[in-house]
Parts: sequence; structure tokens; C-alpha cells
Amino acid sequence: MAKKTTRFYCKSCGHEELRWLGQCPGCREWNTFAEVKVAAKTSHKGARGFSTGGRRSETVGLGGKVQPVPLARVASAETNRLPVEPAEVARVLGGGLVEGSVVLLGGEPGVGKSTLLTGLALWWVRQGLKVIYVAGEESPAQIRMRAERLGFSPEKEEGFHILPEVQLESLMETLEEDAGGDGEAGSTVIIADSIQTLHSENIDSFPGSPTQIRYCGGVLADFARRSGHPVFLVGHVTKSGDLAGPKLLEHMVDTVLYFEGSGGGPIRMVRAVKNRFGTTGELAVMEMRAEGLVPVDQAGVLFLSGRRGVEPGSAVCAVKNGSRVFLVEVQALVSTSRYGTPQRVVQGVDNKRVALLAAILEKRAGMDLAGCDIFVKVAGGGRIDDPGADLAIMVALASSLRERPVPLDNLVLGEVGLTGEIRQVADLDSRLREAGRHGFARAILARSEGSKPSRRKKEGMELMTVTSVEEAVALALEPTGRKAGRG
Ligand code: TYD
Ligand code: MG
Repeated sequence: MAKKTTRFYCKSCGHEELRWLGQCPGCREWNTFAEVKVAAKTSHKGARGFSTGGRRSETVGLGGKVQPVPLARVASAETNRLPVEPAEVARVLGGGLVEGSVVLLGGEPGVGKSTLLTGLALWWVRQGLKVIYVAGEESPAQIRMRAERLGFSPEKEEGFHILPEVQLESLMETLEEDAGGDGEAGSTVIIADSIQTLHSENIDSFPGSPTQIRYCGGVLADFARRSGHPVFLVGHVTKSGDLAGPKLLEHMVDTVLYFEGSGGGPIRMVRAVKNRFGTTGELAVMEMRAEGLVPVDQAGVLFLSGRRGVEPGSAVCAVKNGSRVFLVEVQALVSTSRYGTPQRVVQGVDNKRVALLAAILEKRAGMDLAGCDIFVKVAGGGRIDDPGADLAIMVALASSLRERPVPLDNLVLGEVGLTGEIRQVADLDSRLREAGRHGFARAILARSEGSKPSRRKKEGMELMTVTSVEEAVALALEPTGRKAGRG
């Protein structure tokens, strides 16, 4: 047995240290270090080499000195994509599942990771591919039950294989025999559900520990690259971040998908946070139904549904998630604080950003928010990362403070700078098009430098351009007399 050593891992970001630290240098969180006993490194295949990628890739650099190679002489890797259905998921993967790639699917327990992958697996076997579902979480009978719910028929879907093995070395032996080779005869998709249940005999710690997760993930990733068979790794993320295993794998996989629910309802979103074979930020919106996950039509207005009428404290913006535009309602509540320290409660937007925008409102638009509690949330449990929502957040705050509503058919778009200047959002046309399609009649947005205020029309919407937050707030809260609703 190899010599044992002790390591410390940050439970929230996976940062490794030789001694315990109060604060993690990686993510700056406090009290997140956990002690793990590890066996000294044992070498495994490919440990010193790197994979050239693509099908039939070979490991180069093993033994001997590695020489620099002119980039022009490096063959470019072909990315062969397996089709994926539903198209929502294909888009998040960058247009299909790249052969030999490793995809990490993270999410809270019960969100529907196994359901999503079983659904994809059923579709692949119907296309003639083979799927090996490594079952660590559930018994084969439970997986069969789920598959039946999703429409599994034993005659048509013979390619669906269950492998109830959690011991990494024997699992790899089976995979090498069964799906090894060069994948030329048609790919086998391997689904490891979940990475937390696998354990290797080379590592002296319990399944689900950071070292086990890293090691098992690394061996499976290496297998995918050598064999050309795509591998899915399922990783549980818990709210407290206690078993933040999947984070440890992010750097060694090609694609990281996070699967999340929204507001406790049936809506599920798959988000690509890293993708070597596509753009990140793509979002697939689906609904969990009795028959499995179904893509949502009208996903573009999902975060608008349930608007009751003109109320103060609400503004709508059009945000981009990858290539898609979503109309999102930002809600704000500003009220006089009853306690010494005013509260700032934010959901769905970065709270530092809200604090910054509130400060700009005070400084540049002369609004007194100092003694106020501020609550901001995105309707429908959505989340906004797009800076183009800045102005909408500010207008929602101003609207609540002044008790004056923004008309229902108004769209507010713009990134706000520290001096209160408003900047144009990227890809304006597609945002206006989506809003126009859903009955929005007016957009308040940035005026480009030097141009005159105008009331142009575009995509069926009246464009009202502004240069400052003050101007935007005045326009948005203007009593227009119209109480026009959306279609
Ligand atoms: P599951 O895929 O087991 O979640 P995870 O693998 O992320 O832990 O799905 C969990 C929930 O999904 C479970 O509460 C039941 C529900 N569900 C449906 O509503 N419809 C379905 O068709 C299936 C298979 C599951
Ligand atoms: Mg599961």
C-alpha cells in the first residue's frame, strides 16, 4: 500500500493545501477546509502525457523529452457531433454531443439529472447508438421503472445497458472490453450516475471525497479522450455546498452543465457554464411533467407570466442567455427601515450589483435610499447575469420608492456606468424583436453619443433614447395615461 499523507481541501472550490487554513486562498470562504487522508500518487495511464484530442487520439509525450512542435504541423482535431434530442439540450451542448468529450452535469439531488439523461439515452438508442448507464445511485430495477415512465419499450431499445458497478477499476475493465477500441463502429455513450458513488482502490478515502471524485473523474475523462466515446458525469451539488465535488472536476471536463429548478415549480433550466465545443451561457428551459422533461414553448416570456397589472416596483428587460433572448421582470420593494441597519435582500441578481446600482441612484438621481430596506427579485425564479438589466433594476427601485408604476408595455434596456451614464446593450435588435413579438410598444434605451433624442420606431416598438439614469427614470415613470396590456 502506498504511503499515506494528509491533504486539506476547500469544500466550496476544491482548492488544495498541505495545511489547514481558516480562509481559502482560492475562493475567500471561511472555515471550508476539510482534512482528507490520501495515498501517495500512483501513476495511471496517460499520467505524464496529454491527449491529442479527437477520435483515435493517442497519448503523446510518454517517456523521453518532449519537443516543441510547430502549431502548423499539429493536425486539427475533428469534432464529430452525435445528434441530441431535444433540440434545447443540443443547443446548450453547442449543437450536439462531441465524440470523446466529457460532460459534467451538476445539480441538486432530485432536480431531474437522471431523468434528463435517461431521456437522452432513450433517444440515442433509438438512433442505433449504444448507451451504458453506470448505476451507482439506484438499482437497475429503479432505472428501468424511470425509463418505462419515459416511454421505454424493451423490443426497440436493446442498446440501453445498465452497469451496476461503482468500483472504478472493475468498471474501467468492463468499459475497456465493452466500449474500448476506437469507437469507429459507432459510439457508445457512457453515463456515470453519479461520480460521487464511484470509488477507486488506489485512493484511501471514502466515495464522494474530493480525492475520490478527482481521481475517478480523471480516469473516466482519460477513457473518453482515448476511446472517442462521450462520457457524462453526474455530480450532486448541495445547497450548503458541503459536497461540492463537481467543482473539482470543472477544469478536467470539456463541458459543464448545471441543472437547476426555478422557484420550486416544475420549470427546470440547463445552463452551460463551460463549453470547449460551444458558447457558454446557453440556457435550455424545460418542464418536469409526469412523462419526463418537456421543452417549454414560449420560454422567452416565462419570467413574465403572472403579472397582474400595473404595480409600482416592476420593470421588464430583455436579457440574453447565450443566443436566446428572455423577457424578464425585475421586481423591487423599497420601504422605510424599522431597524437600525437597513436590509438588502436580493434574489436572482448579484447583490453587490444591486448595492452598486442603488448607490448610483442616490448619487446621480438624487433618490434617498439610505434609510430604506431594499428587496429585489427576478420574477418566476429566474437569474440575471446580463449587465443590460442594470437600468431595469434601477427603474424598478425608483418605481417602488416613488410609488409610480412603469406602464406594462414598456421595456427598459441599458447597462449603467458608475457616473450614471447609460450604455447600449449588445445585440439590441434581437432583444427588441422578442419584446415586439410579445406586445411591448415602447423601449427606453441608451442614446449613442452625439445623437439627438428621437422617437424612432423599430421592430414595431417606439424607441425612447436617454443618456442618464435621471432621464430614464423620468421617462419610465411618466404618467402616460395608457394602461395598455400586453397581448
Ligand atoms: P431524478 O431524475 O431522480 O433527479 P436527480 O437524478 O437529479 O436526483 O428526478 C427526481 C424527480 O423528478 C422526482 O421527484 C420525480 C420527478 N419525475 C417526474 O416528475 N416525472 C418523471 O417522468 C420522472 C422520471 C421523474
Ligand atoms: Mg439521480
